[in-house]
Amino acid sequence: MSDTHIVILAAGKGTRMKSAAPKVLHAAGGLPLIEHVLRAADALRPATTVLVIGHLADRVKTALAKRPGLRFALQEPQLGTGHALLQAEPHLEGASGTVVLLSGDVPLLRAETLERLVRQHESAGAAATVLTARVSGPHEYGRIVREGGRIAAIVEHKDATPAQRAIDEINSGIYAFALEPLFDALRSIGSANAQGEYYLPDLVGIYRSQGKAVETVVLDDARQILGVNSRKELADVSAILKTTKNDALMANGVSIVDPATAYIDPDVEIGTDTTIHPNVYLEGRTRIGSNCVIHAGVRIVDSTIDDGVVIKNYCVITESHLAAGAEVGPFAHLRPHSDIGENARVGNFTELKKTSLGKGSKASHLSYLGDAVIGEKVNVGAGTITCNYDGTHKHQTVIEDGAFIGSDSQLVAPIRVGKGAYIAAGSSIVEDVPAGALGIARGKQINKPGWVAKKKG
Ligand code: UD1
Ligand code: CA
Repeated sequence: MSDTHIVILAAGKGTRMKSAAPKVLHAAGGLPLIEHVLRAADALRPATTVLVIGHLADRVKTALAKRPGLRFALQEPQLGTGHALLQAEPHLEGASGTVVLLSGDVPLLRAETLERLVRQHESAGAAATVLTARVSGPHEYGRIVREGGRIAAIVEHKDATPAQRAIDEINSGIYAFALEPLFDALRSIGSANAQGEYYLPDLVGIYRSQGKAVETVVLDDARQILGVNSRKELADVSAILKTTKNDALMANGVSIVDPATAYIDPDVEIGTDTTIHPNVYLEGRTRIGSNCVIHAGVRIVDSTIDDGVVIKNYCVITESHLAAGAEVGPFAHLRPHSDIGENARVGNFTELKKTSLGKGSKASHLSYLGDAVIGEKVNVGAGTITCNYDGTHKHQTVIEDGAFIGSDSQLVAPIRVGKGAYIAAGSSIVEDVPAGALGIARGKQINKPGWVAKKKG
């Protein structure tokens, strides 16, 4: 096996997106377009990966700064796809093997397809191999012109004759090239065409006139090479990614009540016999166990949900952990670093942030619990608030096992409520409450007998 090098083109303006953001950073299926392409590329275990950037180059570079080993080639100005590939030359100096050319805006391409492309290219000893497909409406794609069955040239839609436009075999924009003759040949591409650009596909005609072998790999599933040039195509591609993910989950034993409205990112994992109700968003690195029920309208981001958890309608859960048997919602908000213990409950209109709620504890109604460590079997009454912020700093609240916090209490942090202690309803607690004690801090009630009648008289 010779070395594989990847070059991905992403320098173009993406005019048809009508966006101030670079096209390849637009998300489909929860990931930027370029991330899908990089993942397929990584599967080839390339010796080199070069991304050609130009339009909004800094934004693309910043977004991908953490990708190990990724190299950037700047194409300025952008004079066409042939010119774009030429910019990768310095990164491939002294290298040998095969260059696989990808487009940053073709996100559905499968790794197996790339493996097949490289295998056939190398076994044929070709100078270039073009990935093609037959489509029913070829639209703007470059057409594959064949002579005697063999590929002779690629003609861009804008340059094509009516007869060529009738050809239904199209150029995917994905190719394998033998590295050795590639860059010299690229320099011989001209720009005398409808768009005044240096077209990479012209290489096919150049190689053929030099008698070099050019091969094709024809794809059966043309959907894989759908390019994203507009918002409409972005939505089309997102829909395909969504269906693919949902189908895979259902095949693995997950019930999805209405797949049309289940938005589940590619990296999300879900165990068997879990049910996903309509309008649910599961994002990022979320993992959900078995036998869970996720009710309608829930959004979960980068969280871990253990087995047998029930999440009732309209909860938002971010970077949190729910242990087995926990129940949350409806209308609960678990902000980052919330940790809900086994069989614990968080009820409606309750918000948690950086808070752990121990095994079997309950915060059933209308509470804010922030920067708190709450033990096991604690009852947090309706309307309890941890006053964690003094305007400058955040402070911690500790509530030990078995404590009972009466309704409408404020716990002014830093504060500790000891094991089994009680807080009387309506208290503003500013001092620690020892284990087993009752903390009560509220205005004393005065009843004035006959007051109403006197007022009216
Ligand atoms: C290209 C092909 C066409 C093929 C189609 C498949 C050319 C001339 N045409 O057309 O045969 O059917 O892809 O999707 O190659 N880019 C640069 N620098 C540039 C120009 C483009 O980096 O100067 C990048 C773009 O950002 C994009 C990719 O190259 O990622 C393709 O460019 P685009 O303008 O979308 O080409 P198409 O018109 O789609
Ligand atoms: Ca394109």
